Order: sequence, then C-alpha cells, then structure tokens
Amino acid sequence: MTRVAILISGGGSNMVRLVQDMTGDHPARPVLVASNDPEAGGLKRAADLGVATAAVDHRDFPRDREGFEAALLEPLLAARPDIICLAGFMRILTPGFVQRFAGRMINIHPSLLPKYPGLHTHARAIAAGDAQAGCTVHLVTPELDAGPLLGQARVPILPGDDADALAARVLVQEHRLYPAVLRRFAAGDRTPVMFPR
Ligand code: GAR
Repeated sequence: MTRVAILISGGGSNMVRLVQDMTGDHPARPVLVASNDPEAGGLKRAADLGVATAAVDHRDFPRDREGFEAALLEPLLAARPDIICLAGFMRILTPGFVQRFAGRMINIHPSLLPKYPGLHTHARAIAAGDAQAGCTVHLVTPELDAGPLLGQARVPILPGDDADALAARVLVQEHRLYPAVLRRFAAGDRTPVMFPR
C-alpha cells in the first residue's frame, strides 16, 4: 500500500478530499497530516477522520528554515511516506528538503501555471483581464511552482468576479482535480489529468 503524508497550513479542505478518496480500491492510504501551524483547522479535521497528525510551529524557528525543516522531518520520516502532498502548505521549502523527496512530492496551486506562481493568483488573473483561471497540480521541484504538470482544471472568469468569488469557483475544481491526480500518481501514472476533458 502506498503511504501518503499531507502537509497543510490552514483549513485543509483539499486535504479532507484527498483523505476521503483514499479508501476502497484506491492505491494509497493517508499516514500523516502535518502542519507548520498548530492552530491550523485542518489538523482537527484530519484527527476526526482518523489520520495521525503532527504540528511543528515555524515561528519557533525564526530565520532558521533548515531548523524548521529538520524538526518537520522527524514526524514525517517516522510516518515513512512514499508520496507527500502539499495541500495549502504555505511555507517555501529549501532545495535540500525538496531534493530529499524528488519525484514523490506534489502540490496544488490555485492558478493555471505557468501563469501566476506565488501569491494572490486570483486577483492577478482578474487584473490581467484573463478569460479563464483554474488550478494546477504539479511535481515539486526546487523552483517555486515550476515543476512538471500532473493536472489542470479550468474555470471561466465571469464579469463582476472579485478574487473571493473566483477563488470559490476554483476551489470546487481543486477538490475534483487533486484526488483524481493522486489516484493516478499513486498508481505510477503521470499522465496529466485535464478538466474539462
Ligand atoms: C488552496 O486554494 C490551495 O490551492 C492554495 O491554498 C488553498 C488551501 O485551501 N495553495 C496555495 O496557494 C499554495 N501556494 P485548503 O486549506 O482549504 O485546502
């Protein structure tokens, strides 16, 4: 059975969808949900779903990204994950941490990459006058939000959209796309999942 760890920073709605999908004939099972914020709402949601949790507060490691990552590695390595899913994990990881899990760490990002890596993706898409927005799942490489594509879902940007309205429309698609990609990826298939097909 393929073992999956999920890293979160917030409410964890994508994490919940991944965990809920990992039952029955799914090739993977969740072994850990970890957060850089002990107050992250997703930690309780994970525990309620019966998944082991861990928290390593990044604020205990000011200006010490490697110290934070060393502390995060303890519960992570103890869980022996085959795959790591970043699901709203809002800390930038060092190249050393990324390399350790090369080819086994994936991320969901709320834009149609390569457009809009980084933050404020929806506001940037609206400001640019784009007709479409969406979300992307990709392999994590040392360069931020730049790894090979594993899946993408598109939505229209509608007249009158603000960033919150667009984020809500995209999030519905995130909840479809990420489980679909993880199913495929855990089965060893890296063919991108594209919505709409
Ligand atoms: C999601 O929209 C995810 O795409 C985004 O954070 C949100 C987390 O929501 N991730 C990033 O912006 C990563 N740079 P969730 O905690 O409810 O899954």
